[in-house]
Amino acid sequence: MKAKLESERIKLRNYVLEDIDDYYDYIKSEDISGRLGFPPYKSKEQALERLKIEIKKPYQFAIVLKSENKVVGSIEIMLPSRDRNARAKFDERYAGIDAGENPVEIGFLLSPKFWGLGIMPEATVLATDYAFNTLGASAVCIGHLKANTNSGRVQDKIGFKIVNEIKTDKTWIDGSATTSVRRIMTKDMWNKIRKAKFKEFVK
Ligand SMILES: CC(C)(COP(=O)(O)OP(=O)(O)OC[C@H]1O[C@@H](n2cnc3c(N)ncnc32)[C@H](O)[C@@H]1OP(=O)(O)O)[C@@H](O)C(=O)NCCC(=O)NCCS
Repeated sequence: MKAKLESERIKLRNYVLEDIDDYYDYIKSEDISGRLGFPPYKSKEQALERLKIEIKKPYQFAIVLKSENKVVGSIEIMLPSRDRNARAKFDERYAGIDAGENPVEIGFLLSPKFWGLGIMPEATVLATDYAFNTLGASAVCIGHLKANTNSGRVQDKIGFKIVNEIKTDKTWIDGSATTSVRRIMTKDMWNKIRKAKFKEFVK
């Protein structure tokens, strides 16, 4: 079964170079870079270099808000089992957790102009269904800094389950200490909720 990466409101598709203006508009935001721990992008040229890298990733999706035909954020599905080093790092991060042979990890960011509209929960539902039903994932995993409550809320709303919370050297944007929280959705969990909770987004 192929999951469609589209709902009434949004569409997920690969990035193209023509996305640069929309992309720069949010990747330069300190509300994003501060939360993700990279230096703010200071020029469109610098952002274009990053966009070129994103274009090459097969499961790095631009989130298109259909009503405005505008790219408003990114959601990426990473497949650690395709690469031995990536799988080893994944196993370290999710130590002791049975995520099966083909776990995937999801990461996301959204333009602050569109926060609070439920766009990322919707994109995450589409990506999760795609991961299980098109990529054959054994589990979908996702992590965030505990202080990043917005990200934690997205994951909770969908039904991801916390599997570990560990110390991290990373600090929050105000310099305060935080922890790293990881959640999982197994295929069984997803099969139980996908239609019951998200029938408007999944086939
Ligand atoms: C995390 C993120 C993707 C959430 O996307 P979203 O589409 O706004 O998600 P939601 O609409 O479900 O909102 C989630 C929570 O954010 C908070 N929130 C909503 N609007 C907000 C705003 N304008 N400003 C600050 N926080 C807001 C609310 O607590 C909300 O929870 P609620 O719906 O229970 O009230 C977005 O905040 C973001 O891009 N943050 C920066 C990048 C990042 O942190 N990525 C994740 C790394 S792990």
